[in-house]
Amino acid sequence: MSATSANKDDFFAQTAVPERFSEKYELMKEFVSKHRAIGNRVVLVSSGGTTVPLESRTVRFIDNFSIGTRGSASAEYPLYFLQHGYAVIFLYRLRSLEPYSRHLQRRLMDMLEVKGDSVTVKHDHTSSLKSILQQYEGVKAKDLLLSIDFTSLAEYLHLLRASAQILNAIHSKALLYLAAAVSDFYIPKHEMPEHKIQSSTDKPLQLSLQLVPKMLKPLVKEWAPDAFVVSFKLETDRNILIKKALSALDKYQHQVVIANLLDTRKYEVVLVTKETEKPILLSKEDSDKGLEIEEEIVKQLIARHKHFIES
Ligand code: PMT
Repeated sequence: MSATSANKDDFFAQTAVPERFSEKYELMKEFVSKHRAIGNRVVLVSSGGTTVPLESRTVRFIDNFSIGTRGSASAEYPLYFLQHGYAVIFLYRLRSLEPYSRHLQRRLMDMLEVKGDSVTVKHDHTSSLKSILQQYEGVKAKDLLLSIDFTSLAEYLHLLRASAQILNAIHSKALLYLAAAVSDFYIPKHEMPEHKIQSSTDKPLQLSLQLVPKMLKPLVKEWAPDAFVVSFKLETDRNILIKKALSALDKYQHQVVIANLLDTRKYEVVLVTKETEKPILLSKEDSDKGLEIEEEIVKQLIARHKHFIES
């Protein structure tokens, strides 16, 4: 496997515009314009991993480990802070975790029971389910959550560019929270075989991948220059994590990097700005009680975003 690099214009020219792109574009535009009119802030939360197809009529693809826990949990918390007036565009990998329904996705079968002819919620799950449903209904009634799905890397980046450009209309009231796990390699469409790659040869499969340009650069400089931008840095080596986060802030000139390690990401992150490094920790006891690190991450970011808007 080898890799060479493209620039952002090559990337967009070499990848197809996603299906239903204009429909999704219009939904995002309408959502932002509605919340702009009532003075709300809007946060774009990206979540889940991107796929890199190996064939045009895709049978096989390279995928990423993320299942969207970080993004889906985080998307709920701005909504707990309704007094802060946030609406959320949730840009997520299809079939990864989603806000609210994530609480049921893994536990549904344990929450329900058959009683006579009907299916009911088990007594000890009633209050948690009721609370999730009430939050969800509140959010729906106020139209505070717009979910837009993607699967491939190209879909994600086309939609990211569109949403950032749309959000630029609300200037500093836009917050971009880029938690999706984005592939760094792809196969341009003119190099991709149309049909399923055949295995009936003796030779091992050789793949040639291009490097995906880092989209944080045009995002901060061109697409949403007035927005508050939070990127994530994922590493497996603790020794290089903070250095890489600081180098990203220096290179892209955005506001915050949330640095996390693959193995400890649910219990430990560092909120890095050019001037500060703030560790955010979740203890084992708090985790066992059902608390999540995303609540504190979002609380910290909302405070910093408020300061950013005011200054
Ligand atoms: O979903 P979970 O299982 O809960 O996992 C959450 C998470 C670990 C995926 C999340 O916390 C996280 O760290 N997300 C970012 C992972 C990632 O892509 O890291 P990176 O170091 O490869 O990229 C750093 C930043 O560059 C990212 O914010 C990304 O948006 C951006 N990027 C990446 C590739 C690319 N071509 N252009 C970019 O701008």
